Amino acid sequence: MTKTFYITTPIYYVNGAPHLGHAYTSVAADVLARWHRLEGHDVFFLTGTDEHGQKVEAAAKLAGIPPQEFTDRVSDDFKDMARVMNISNDDFIRTTEPRHKAAAADIWLKLQENGFIYLGAYEGWYAVRDEAFYDEDETEKKPDGTRIATSSGATVEWVVEPSYFFKLSAFQDKLLELYEANPGFIGPQAKRNEITSFVKSGLRDLSISRTSFSWGIPVPGDEKHVMYVWLDALVNYLSACGYPDLSGPRGKYWPANVHLVGKEIIRFHAVIWPAILMAANLPLPARVFSHGWWTVEGEKMSKSVGNVTDVRELVAEFGLDQVRYFLLREVPFGNDGDFSRRALIGRINSDLANGLGNLAQRTLSFINKNAGAVVPPKGRLQEADLVLLEQCSQLPEKVRGAIGRLAFHEALDEIWRLIRAADGYIDREAPWSLRKTDTARMNSVLYVLCATLRSIGVVLQPFMPEQVGRLLDYLGVGDDRSLTILDSALAEGILLPAPAGLFPRIVEEQKNADR
Ligand code: MSP
Repeated sequence: MTKTFYITTPIYYVNGAPHLGHAYTSVAADVLARWHRLEGHDVFFLTGTDEHGQKVEAAAKLAGIPPQEFTDRVSDDFKDMARVMNISNDDFIRTTEPRHKAAAADIWLKLQENGFIYLGAYEGWYAVRDEAFYDEDETEKKPDGTRIATSSGATVEWVVEPSYFFKLSAFQDKLLELYEANPGFIGPQAKRNEITSFVKSGLRDLSISRTSFSWGIPVPGDEKHVMYVWLDALVNYLSACGYPDLSGPRGKYWPANVHLVGKEIIRFHAVIWPAILMAANLPLPARVFSHGWWTVEGEKMSKSVGNVTDVRELVAEFGLDQVRYFLLREVPFGNDGDFSRRALIGRINSDLANGLGNLAQRTLSFINKNAGAVVPPKGRLQEADLVLLEQCSQLPEKVRGAIGRLAFHEALDEIWRLIRAADGYIDREAPWSLRKTDTARMNSVLYVLCATLRSIGVVLQPFMPEQVGRLLDYLGVGDDRSLTILDSALAEGILLPAPAGLFPRIVEEQKNADR
C-alpha cells in the first residue's frame, strides 16, 4: 500500500490580509508536500482559514458588512495568495463550512460523553486581539492604567462569564509521557524543552466557550455559548479528513504526519490539541514543528509601522521561485529571520543567477550550439566524471535527510554544494577548448553536466516548481519527474530544446532608480 503523508498549515485568521508570514508557513508546507509526492507518497496537504471569534466579528463590524460576507472576502484573498505562491494544497478548509461545524460539534459531544467538559465560570485577563487569556503575571499595567499582555502588547480586560471548561489538567502526565516516548513529537528541540517545562509547571483547565459574542459554532445543547475559537480551529485538521466519519476516502490520512505552525502557536498544537485528541480517543499526529518569525528590514511587521509585506508584490517584482528560494534558504527553519530587499537581491544574484542559472545556461546553450542539441554520448568516463556523478547519486539521500529534519536550508546547501562542484568541473574540463581538440571528451563532459543538472533539477522541484520545471524541460526530461528517474542513467541522444535564461540578474542600481 502506498504510504500516506498528511501535512497541514495553520488555518489563517481572516481578520487581516495575507502577508509574508502566512506565505512562509504555506511555502514550507508546500515544499514538504511536493517532496513527498516526488517520493511517490499519497499526500494530503491542507490549508485554510480560521473564521470565527470576536476579532473577526469586530473586523466585520468595522467594515460594515455581515461576518459571513466579510470572511468570504478575506478567505478568497488567502486562496489568492496560495494561488500566487503556487501552493499545491489538496483542500482548503474554512471553519464556517458545514463539514467543519459538524466535526467540531461532534468533538464537543465526545469530550462531554467522556467526562472532560464541565460548566463553570471564567474570570481572567482576556485579550480580544490574541483571543487568549493571560495569567496576572503575564500582563503588565501601563502608565495610563490600562493593562496589556506582556508577550504581545495586546490590551487585556477582566472578564467574568459562565463558561464550559475542558479538563486539560487531567492530561499533564499523559502529555509528558507522550513527549518522553516520542522525542520527535515537538520540533525544533528548543521548543520541545520549552513545552515540556511549561507542562511540568502544571496545567489548568481550559475555558472552551464564550457567551460574550455570537460569531462562532454553537455549543451543542447550550446555544447561548459559542465554542472557544481555538477548540473550533484545531478541529479543522480532522474535519478535512471527513471526521466524524473516518471510514470515508479521506479518513486514511488521519493522524497527520506534520502540523507546521509558527512559534507563537506551538502551545496550542503541542499541548491542547493532543489533549483534546486523547480525550476523544483519537490517534495523535506524529509531529508538530514550529518555525520562527520574520521581521522586515529589521522591524516587526505591523500596520502602524506600515511595513506589512504582501508577498504577492514581491513575487510580481522578483519572480515566484526567487521569493520561495529566499524564504527557505535565508534562515534555518525554526529560527527568526529578517527580510530585506538587499538580502533578497543578493541571494537571487549570487545563488540563482550566478549559481544555478549560469551553470545551466553555460551547459545547455553550449550543447545547443556545439553538440547537436542532444544529450551527448557518454563515451569513456574519467576519474573527474565519476567523482561528480558519485556526488549526484548521493544527493537525493542527503536532501531526503535534511527535509526529514525540516532543515530546508541544509537541503538547499547540499544542492548548492553540488552546483559549486559542477562549476569547478566545467572550468577545469573546459569543454569550449575540447571542441577543437577532442570532441569525444567534450561530449563526455557535457553528458556528465547534463546528468548533474538533472539530479539537481529533480530534487529542487519542490522548492522552485516553475523555473526548475523549465530546467527539466531544457534537459529533455519527460513527464515522470519523480525521484526514481534518478535511479537510471541519463539516456543519450535525447533532443534538447533551445534553452533560455532561468534567473535574470537583478541590477540594483536599476531597482533603486525604479523605486
Ligand atoms: N488562526 C490561528 C491558527 C489556528 S491553527 C488551528 C493563527 N492564525 S494567524 O493567521 O495569526 O497565523 C498563522 C501563521 O502565520 C502562523 O503560523 C504564524 O506563525 C504565521 N505568521 C504570522 N506572522 C508571521 C511572521 N511575521 N513571520 C513568520 N510567520 C508568521 O494563528
